[in-house]
Amino acid sequence: MRFQVSVPCYDQVVQKIDRITTCSLKELLEREDRRLLFVIHELLINAYESTILTYADNAPKYPIEVLINIDEQTVSVHVSDYGYGMNEDALVILDQELDGVLMQERGRGLLMVKKLVDKMYFSKKESGIFTVSIEKRWN
Ligand SMILES: Nc1ncnc2c1ncn2[C@@H]1O[C@H](COP(=O)(O)OP(=O)(O)O)[C@@H](O)[C@H]1O
Ligand SMILES: [Mg+2]
Repeated sequence: MRFQVSVPCYDQVVQKIDRITTCSLKELLEREDRRLLFVIHELLINAYESTILTYADNAPKYPIEVLINIDEQTVSVHVSDYGYGMNEDALVILDQELDGVLMQERGRGLLMVKKLVDKMYFSKKESGIFTVSIEKRWN
């Protein structure tokens, strides 16, 4: 099973995709996986922030996209945006232990995501699309 959604980066894009993925995943998995929904929400916020920071008023010209693949054992989720992409510093922070950053303002989302999934990885294509992917066993 597989579904994909692409929504222009307007103000309400995170809430809209949250609702779409909540309904679709509930239908496909036949139950609600709240941790998975939290993970997708965090990735959407990051994609939104990156697109807004990069394009400001022009952000609605760029979509935020979610692709979800479900097989017998694994759900994989790919959240893509056209923003600035992640720099090296951000990738370094992911190697830190969760305890050290829990009380900091920023940089907690992806660390929590990392704890809740089995795999997390990033890719940047020449087209400018930046994708954060996760995999999680659900069955
Ligand atoms: N989609 C993205 N595009 C560009 N940078 C990103 C993206 N997602 C995460 N990052 C970078 O990784 C950092 C850590 O993300 P996160 O753990 O969610 O913390 P926060 O969003 O609170 O800063 C962000 O501050 C940002 O620099
Ligand atoms: Mg975040």
